[in-house]
Amino acid sequence: MSNRPELPPEIARRRTFAIISHPDAGKTTLTEKFLLYGGAIQMAGQVRAKGEARRTRSDFMKMEQDRGISVSASAMSFDFDGHRFNLVDTPGHSDFSEDTYRTLTAVDAAIMVIDGAKGVESQTRKLFEVCRLRDLPILTFCNKMDRESRDTFEIIDEIQENLAIDVAPASWPIGVGREFIGCYDMLNDRLELMDRADRNRVAESVKIDGLDDPKLAGHVPENLLEKLREEVEMARGLLPEFSRQSFLEGHLTPIWFGSAINSFGVRELMMGISEYGPAPQPQNSASREIAPEEKTVTGFVFKVQANMDPKHRDRVAFVRMASGHFQRGMKLTHVRTKKPMAVSNPVLFLAADRELAEEAWAGDIIGIPNHGQLRIGDALTEGEALRFTGIPSFAPELLQSVRATDPMKAKHLEKALMQFAEEGAAKVFKPAIGSGFIVGVVGALQFEVLASRIELEYGIPVRFEGSQFTSARWVQGPKDKVDTFANANKGHMAHDHDGDLVYLTRLQWDIDRIERDHPDLKLTATKEMM
Ligand code: G4P
Repeated sequence: MSNRPELPPEIARRRTFAIISHPDAGKTTLTEKFLLYGGAIQMAGQVRAKGEARRTRSDFMKMEQDRGISVSASAMSFDFDGHRFNLVDTPGHSDFSEDTYRTLTAVDAAIMVIDGAKGVESQTRKLFEVCRLRDLPILTFCNKMDRESRDTFEIIDEIQENLAIDVAPASWPIGVGREFIGCYDMLNDRLELMDRADRNRVAESVKIDGLDDPKLAGHVPENLLEKLREEVEMARGLLPEFSRQSFLEGHLTPIWFGSAINSFGVRELMMGISEYGPAPQPQNSASREIAPEEKTVTGFVFKVQANMDPKHRDRVAFVRMASGHFQRGMKLTHVRTKKPMAVSNPVLFLAADRELAEEAWAGDIIGIPNHGQLRIGDALTEGEALRFTGIPSFAPELLQSVRATDPMKAKHLEKALMQFAEEGAAKVFKPAIGSGFIVGVVGALQFEVLASRIELEYGIPVRFEGSQFTSARWVQGPKDKVDTFANANKGHMAHDHDGDLVYLTRLQWDIDRIERDHPDLKLTATKEMM
């Protein structure tokens, strides 16, 4: 990964990234402050629902119902320091979800937020591993430094050991907890002082000349100053220095310390993204690498969101532009169906508003309203038959059967389920024998979310029940062999929402046996999202 000098300035100035964190570390608060400094909102507190009930289930449903919040939070664009930031949100609830992982295929970098008192938590580690698969550069923000936090060296050690990545301090905290007064900016030799009185105010910044500068005495109490000098000297001796190259290659993460709620350290982090963060990177396809500076427009769908407006059954496909300069009204080719598609009302997400996108460059995220033609993994090009690769589809780990409590609504239920399957919110299988559906998800909470969405968006109360099956495998092979196999195993066969054949079982032993007895057949746990 690198910043290529030949990029046109409009592309080079783009920064497309996501924030990864464990719930409660401060992602929402940090996002808000980004929008505040990006001029996208006037006041913090506009983006999220407030109060303790925020992450409870009912609140999640409310957010889903009032799609305004989650939608504007899906992808947000704003300008900062001459750069165009595209912040792609990862879903907030704590359950494992494929959505989160797919989001990471649409970004060029990630910010990892950790809580200074808690360090690296489980969800952070999972998400970090996904970033690593793609060698995404990662910037770290250690939040809540205004509270009692762990020793700075301990935090850094934990990241280095737990995540096996080098950590270079970009700033160094001065004092802890109540005594925390700010940070020493190690990259720019400045003192950043926190304003506890006004949470929306940017900290005072004092240019200094090293840690022996007499100016320091006027700002930092003697005992803290002494400790700061000692620690920074030790840090410089023990920890790697920031190297942009290693950062872009994903081997080293710069860490900033701050307090999102006090607006402290946020601006420095944002400066870090604009100064060092990667510009839009090339994307992989089955046939070749797509460079962002290529003249023709290409992009891929990484997320589909349905029922954003309950009055219209529309869907919005979120497209990451991979190359070129898109202009509204362009006719693109929808590669999967080989059909032309006039993109006349694409949407850009500017904080709380949706706005028509007149143009977009490689790196941008646009929303394309559609009636279901666009699916996750689909490519849009100016004619080339590209297939983007690397968009993961996870094997469902939990299967349950679902039924409408009112049998008259079965047909409607089918429609609702198919839509969620297209969104990538679940895998839906229709068994070859019998009625009803089997739904496969990766995390248990997804069943509850689905049940509430089906009820809210379609007015169909449903019941999920344990299924006799626990595993699903897609069956591939020569048509005659597949047909013979399917006929002989009718009780185990089902079709997914694309009509592809799936074998359902509860025994790994079954799968092993089939693979042994039918060398022509391939049973796969995942299916490419194309
Ligand atoms: P999340 O999106 O990662 O889940 O975290 P969120 O921003 O919602 O923050 C979780 C809690 O941590 C919130 O408190 C928030 O106010 C608090 N918080 C965020 N940044 C800081 C910080 O720098 N210092 C301190 N001390 N707290 C911080 P809450 O009580 O759950 O919500 P609220 O009632 O304050 O909104």
